[in-house]
Amino acid sequence: MAAHRPDPGLMKASIRDYEPSDEEIIVGLSLRAWEPVFAAVAQMLGPELFTRLRGDWRTGQAAEMRAVLADHAQRVWVAEAGGEPIGFVAARLHRDSGVGEIYMIAVDPGAQGQGVGTALTGAATGWLRQSGMRVAMIETGGDPGHAPARRVYEKSGYTALPAVRFFKAL
Ligand SMILES: CC(C)(COP(=O)(O)OP(=O)(O)OC[C@H]1O[C@@H](n2cnc3c(N)ncnc32)[C@H](O)[C@@H]1OP(=O)(O)O)[C@@H](O)C(=O)NCCC(=O)NCCS
Repeated sequence: MAAHRPDPGLMKASIRDYEPSDEEIIVGLSLRAWEPVFAAVAQMLGPELFTRLRGDWRTGQAAEMRAVLADHAQRVWVAEAGGEPIGFVAARLHRDSGVGEIYMIAVDPGAQGQGVGTALTGAATGWLRQSGMRVAMIETGGDPGHAPARRVYEKSGYTALPAVRFFKAL
């Protein structure tokens, strides 16, 4: 897949609805964004557990992303700069509970640290509120690779409820 690395100096992002023609760029930039996250998870779990759980993580993550992008139960937005997608967020409604969920978010590493993730989180949170949800929720990891994500959610006004998941190879 061709590298797509936006110049941070040109960054002036706008947010629009996802279009199916965005799929390849979004999957590519997201795999680059998730690289350090999966590296941190692999370091915490060790190679045996990580391989048993995630195998070839890129293949699994790309498949999950494509499923989310094609899922009409999800609302998906794209952040764009210079006419190119640089990030995305997907959210969905759980009408029974009144809890809306931000399900996936990623920003191209070359565009990170400039408020794009926060703007995407804000757009999705606003939609959850307008859709009648009483609470917005995002699940994320407690590992160092997810530290930027945790920072974005905290500064977007979300309250963390830490949870710990234990694994054992069998
Ligand atoms: C999470 C993510 C979408 C944030 O995108 P972004 O455009 O960089 O977000 P923002 O620029 O709005 O904010 C990033 C914040 O994280 C902070 N940050 C960056 N690295 C950090 C680290 N190692 N530890 C703590 N905070 C960190 C930045 O300083 C910034 O906070 P600040 O504005 O208070 O300085 C992006 O890092 C990403 O794609 N990560 C990989 C995918 C992922 O983890 N998705 C979430 C899964 S739940």
